[in-house]
Amino acid sequence: MADIHHVSVVGAGQMGSGIALVAAQAGCQVLLHDAEAGRISKALAQIGMQLTGSVAKGRITEESAMQALGRITAAADLEAASGADLVIEAVTESMPVKKALLAKLDGICGQGAILASNTSSLSLTELAAVTGRPEQVIGMHFMNPVPVMKLVEIIRGLRTSDDVYATIAKLAERMGKTPLEVRDFPGFVSNRILMPMINEAVYTVYEGVASIEAVDGVMKLGMNHPMGPLALADLIGLDTCLAIMETLHEGFGDSKYRPCPLLRNYVAAGWLGRKSGRGFYAYE
Ligand code: CAA
Repeated sequence: MADIHHVSVVGAGQMGSGIALVAAQAGCQVLLHDAEAGRISKALAQIGMQLTGSVAKGRITEESAMQALGRITAAADLEAASGADLVIEAVTESMPVKKALLAKLDGICGQGAILASNTSSLSLTELAAVTGRPEQVIGMHFMNPVPVMKLVEIIRGLRTSDDVYATIAKLAERMGKTPLEVRDFPGFVSNRILMPMINEAVYTVYEGVASIEAVDGVMKLGMNHPMGPLALADLIGLDTCLAIMETLHEGFGDSKYRPCPLLRNYVAAGWLGRKSGRGFYAYE
């Protein structure tokens, strides 16, 4: 089992920045890459704010916050990933985009490097097949918000080695997370269960069964969910929710996974949830 010291995180969106933070807090040297420089500076500011917040709440010392921050370096060039023991990609949830990136990383990274994907539903086996190292490709699926949620769903592609699985499970534990092993089928476990619930919540609004607030209220007050499914969809991103439903629908060929037309409309309108300022709710 390898020890992971150098981690490259590709994609500095909400998931990538959270992953960079927990990796740095686990003692890893982290390179955070994004094709858009603006996203990196936003992510670094967010990471700084999270660390400051944790210090203010007495969770960590100022010294350990500074040390964690000092372990994160921005990398404008993907080639900087060449020295990584592990690359975690957290780019957009699209098979062609992720395949192109993994093929590129396969050429850039050293032979022993592990390539992990934070995909929330796509086939790891298919992603791994574009590389010359399918045994070293694995799913490392973090939950949003990454610093808060305890789970890392670890997905083994058909050819992922036991040794790589053990290395990644150990790293997740170093990050203060609980790794749970799942096999490579559409939506894995998390989104095979969560996303149809969210989609059904959208259907109840679409069919006029109840208002957005009432649907969320039923699930919060009646089922003790920390937030309603529509507020959660806004947090995840409606485009991501739609992409996951499409993957389930296509992967299982079962009409029970058909995405709600209202979800499609929101995405078409650019109402993507919190990140765009408007989803089922409006945000500042
Ligand atoms: N980043 C970092 N920390 C955050 C945060 C964020 N974006 N949002 C909230 N927090 C922290 C707060 O700072 C607070 O920390 P303290 O306890 O130290 O004060 C703590 O979380 C609780 O936050 P709040 O008091 O503001 O609000 P809350 O109690 O309602 O919790 C929540 C917010 C943690 C998001 C909670 O509502 C929750 O657990 N919601 C469900 C989230 C969920 O289901 N995530 C999984 C989504 S699925 C996914 O990610 C996978 C996928 O593939 C789609």
